Amino acid sequence: MDKNYYITTPIYYPSAKPHMGHAYSSIIADFFARFKKIDGYKVYFLTGTDEHGLKIQRAAEKKNLDTLKFCDEISKTFKDLTKTLNLTNTDFIRTTENRHKQSVQHLWNELKKNDEIYLSKYSGWYSVSDEAFYNNDEIEEIDNKKIAISSKSPVEWVDEESYFFRLSKWEKPLLDFYEKNPDFISPNSRKNEVISFVKNGLKDLSVSRKSFSWGIKVPNDDHHIIYVWLDALTNYISALNYPDTNNELYKNFWPASLHLIGKDILRFHAVYWPAFLLAAKIELPKKVYGHGWILSNQEKMSKSKGNILDPLEIIDQYGLDPLRYYLIKEVSFGNDGNISQERLEDCINSDLANNYGNLCQRVTAFAIKNCQSKIPEKIEFNKDDLSILDKFSNNLENIRLNIDNQNINFYIDFIVNSLFEANKYFNDQEPWKKKEDPIRLNTIVYTTLEIVRKISFMLYPIIPASSIKALKIFDLKEKDIEFNSIGNNNFLKKGNLINKIDILFNKIDKND
Ligand code: ME8
Ligand code: MG
Repeated sequence: MDKNYYITTPIYYPSAKPHMGHAYSSIIADFFARFKKIDGYKVYFLTGTDEHGLKIQRAAEKKNLDTLKFCDEISKTFKDLTKTLNLTNTDFIRTTENRHKQSVQHLWNELKKNDEIYLSKYSGWYSVSDEAFYNNDEIEEIDNKKIAISSKSPVEWVDEESYFFRLSKWEKPLLDFYEKNPDFISPNSRKNEVISFVKNGLKDLSVSRKSFSWGIKVPNDDHHIIYVWLDALTNYISALNYPDTNNELYKNFWPASLHLIGKDILRFHAVYWPAFLLAAKIELPKKVYGHGWILSNQEKMSKSKGNILDPLEIIDQYGLDPLRYYLIKEVSFGNDGNISQERLEDCINSDLANNYGNLCQRVTAFAIKNCQSKIPEKIEFNKDDLSILDKFSNNLENIRLNIDNQNINFYIDFIVNSLFEANKYFNDQEPWKKKEDPIRLNTIVYTTLEIVRKISFMLYPIIPASSIKALKIFDLKEKDIEFNSIGNNNFLKKGNLINKIDILFNKIDKND
């Protein structure tokens, strides 16, 4: 079985510092990366910054900064964010790096060699903010300004010599590919948009610009720079040392398991990228998942709308794991989701502090007092114990399957329900009334500790630092976390010490 997993985030534009939307994609990617890691996969997790094009050039000009210096500064804030978000990314790519430029130029030469690129002239609409070309029917006029209907960003008229990629030629092969690989575009709800876009007819795509300079030069034609999306998409293979397809990284990790992106850039990933790859005779990635948007006051959070929640401020105020938990739980994955501080606080209080934190504290305090601070001996589970324990082993395969379908909602619901049931189990079993029946008391404590252990393992991809902190109860370390052992009901060893741990989550006083 293929035990390698390659996941990517979009590479973000360093036109301004990162906001919650960027943090969201990265946290979700980290969730999958960590899950696969504890499930025994070798994981390559790539993120980075997309630094070329007119959008970046203009942003630097506005600040009166040298373009590369401007990119260095903002790219660093994205790189710092990977640390702040506790991401397990194995690489951080910048498209201004030489390793990337060489790959892009090589890919260009391949396309040229295969007669997929020709010189002509582009006349049409261009949005610098989206770095995208638009047809007439994709444009509307509001207040005398032409904007793209889909993104609402302003468009300008472009009239210049340009190289074109023979996208039209790939219409039929793409449709065949979607049909043969029904999971390639996910979630399913977004597949139809893409398919009908392709069915409507693909025009050849302009893939070079002449009127500005910030980008990778077209080989053998210095006046042209390569279209920023052809440049950017190539990051997914340049990070694996393409064109050296014989090196370990490329051999192990291409084709990618999952390109995780926002739905705003689905067309680039589900149409252009596979077409470029087909034309260059490179294998296609296995899946592109376009998640929904984080909304603030029901609108897409974006810099241009000025409705940004700054992830750093939220993390300063509440801590990282509450934010990770909140984003993963509250934004129903695949759909748009409104976020608010109010709901974040509710989540911390009810799920994290009450349901999880409290369970950990209660059972450890009880075991310290009544079981000599040790994992007690359990003789035999009864049906109450088994009904809560076996739910995990019975669902292992199901959980894996749901993760492979990016069904994060299933995963988090499973945890929330398990926490609810575990608290109920401890209450209903009333171990504090069983002092005369030490065998039963020990078994209840053992069972509850096992549940805490299992749930903490499951929480690791979501709230890694807190999960590791909770596992100190059992002296377990990060390296001990294995998904498979969630199915084991006898993981904890009798006689091992139980440690008291600090409060995991502080409740927020909502009357403040
Ligand atoms: O598009 N909600 O970069 P970008 C959820 N450089 N996710 C959001 C979001 C929101 N409100 N806002 C942004 C680019 N995102 C290109 C990508 S890839 C080869 C090149 C996330 O800085 C989401 O993943 O505009 C979206 O697709 C991405 O940030 C866009 O980031
Ligand atoms: Mg954008």
